Amino acid sequence: MIGRLNHVAIAVPDLEKASATYRDVLGATISAPQAEPDHGVTVVFIELPNTKIELLEPLGENSPIQAFLDRSPSGGIHHVCYEVDDILAARDRLKEQGARVLGSGEPKIGAHGKPVLFLHPKDFNGTLVELEQA
Ligand code: CO
Repeated sequence: MIGRLNHVAIAVPDLEKASATYRDVLGATISAPQAEPDHGVTVVFIELPNTKIELLEPLGENSPIQAFLDRSPSGGIHHVCYEVDDILAARDRLKEQGARVLGSGEPKIGAHGKPVLFLHPKDFNGTLVELEQA
């Protein structure tokens, strides 16, 4: 069911510093920071030949990544995003198998303008999984 790895998201306490590390130390091409107020994050996209890395910094009150950074102050891998062809079919299949879909269970429009859902980390080996309809 799942297809390509769309991105790996890394929560960071200091987006400017993390971006500089990817640009200067790792030699990556990075985007300008993009504020996503609906998602409570500011994002920098790093395009790699086979996937993307997204650096996430909390934005505003009640950012969904703040609790993660409180537990891991220096940052860390926050989620992985897999592509699916049909997000509603994927959701229904996962629910049938007992996996927990976070939030209302209805897809939201993600940072790339495409529908996304998140799956409970306890059902996926301690990893928060995002599904994106490619
Ligand atoms: Co993501």
